[in-house]
Amino acid sequence: MPEQTPAPVPAPASVPAPVPAADSYPLGRGRVHRIGYGAMQLAGDNVFGPPRDRDEALRVLRAAVGAGVDHLDTAQYYGPGVVNELIREALHPYPAGLAIVSKVAARRDEHGAVLPFDEPHQLRQGIEENLTSLGTDRLAAVNLRLVDRTAPPGPRFDAQVAELVRAREEGLIEGVGLSNITRAHLLRALEQTDVACVQNLFNLADQSSLDVLRECTGRGIAFVPFCPLGWPRGVQNRIMSSPAVAGVAARLQATPAQVALAWLLDLAPNILLIPGTRTRAHLAENLATSTVRLDAAARAELARHFPPPTEA
Ligand SMILES: NC(=O)c1ccc[n+]([C@@H]2O[C@H](COP(=O)([O-])OP(=O)(O)OC[C@H]3O[C@@H](n4cnc5c(N)ncnc54)[C@H](OP(=O)(O)O)[C@@H]3O)[C@@H](O)[C@H]2O)c1
Repeated sequence: MPEQTPAPVPAPASVPAPVPAADSYPLGRGRVHRIGYGAMQLAGDNVFGPPRDRDEALRVLRAAVGAGVDHLDTAQYYGPGVVNELIREALHPYPAGLAIVSKVAARRDEHGAVLPFDEPHQLRQGIEENLTSLGTDRLAAVNLRLVDRTAPPGPRFDAQVAELVRAREEGLIEGVGLSNITRAHLLRALEQTDVACVQNLFNLADQSSLDVLRECTGRGIAFVPFCPLGWPRGVQNRIMSSPAVAGVAARLQATPAQVALAWLLDLAPNILLIPGTRTRAHLAENLATSTVRLDAAARAELARHFPPPTEA
């Protein structure tokens, strides 16, 4: 067969495409669309201090929710306080059905260093600070974000999970989430409670949490890959500049970012995306991933260039 000339990559629409309503998955007590928005990038550089362009940050948040995004990811320690304040200013009073998910167990010092804040009473304080800065009395879920995932789960981890369970019983949060965990942490937490969501690093170039994803898929737990476009910058370049990604993108009339996100949507039905961006143009592009469908050839090509880890 003669080779076809790749179709030109479409320019991102200036107005975000609506997220198809049918494409959703349970998150805690509700269901959310499979493409949400991660707000971390809205703070200043290194997630510290005020945004470079405050007005655009507010517009991005309003455009996301206006386009149908009903899952926002944040943390009090983004900024710190900066991202939650932007969300409140842009969106409060929050529309019914908007799931705001936060995370606890870290804080920033005055120089921006990320420090643990993960004693049970500090987790409680973290949840309360999120509620106050966001101006709400309940969050859809809060993730216990482990600082060190290499420490095996034990009594300390149990006490941390118990604190989130207590917050759920008191109605401060609707779901207990876990972040930066191993499969052993998930199984240990499940001995104590239902888990609403798991948020781990996962993208084409880093699939080291595949075992955690599989466990979540089998149990119907939402899996929320953070840094879905890759992190740090070098890893993102490896994905976005990969000839395999570029080739699939050209053939499917998509962009490299859309291919990276569509690969995740295609991988398992319980994957919920929260790509982050400071611009409405990238927001529109990321939301329009809902129209991109990988075919068998695309799956095979991406698997060849980004092979999953070999199972132990
Ligand atoms: N649980 C955790 O420990 C944890 C850790 C990290 C992040 N998170 C959460 O996960 C969310 C997503 O992760 P992330 O924001 O770090 O990484 P990401 O979504 O993988 O990538 C964000 C980066 O990609 C760029 N980008 C976004 N859309 C693009 C597009 N269409 N084309 C080209 N570049 C694009 C953004 O730049 P522009 O601003 O220029 O678009 C930004 O630099 C965060 O916002 C946060 O809510 C959680």
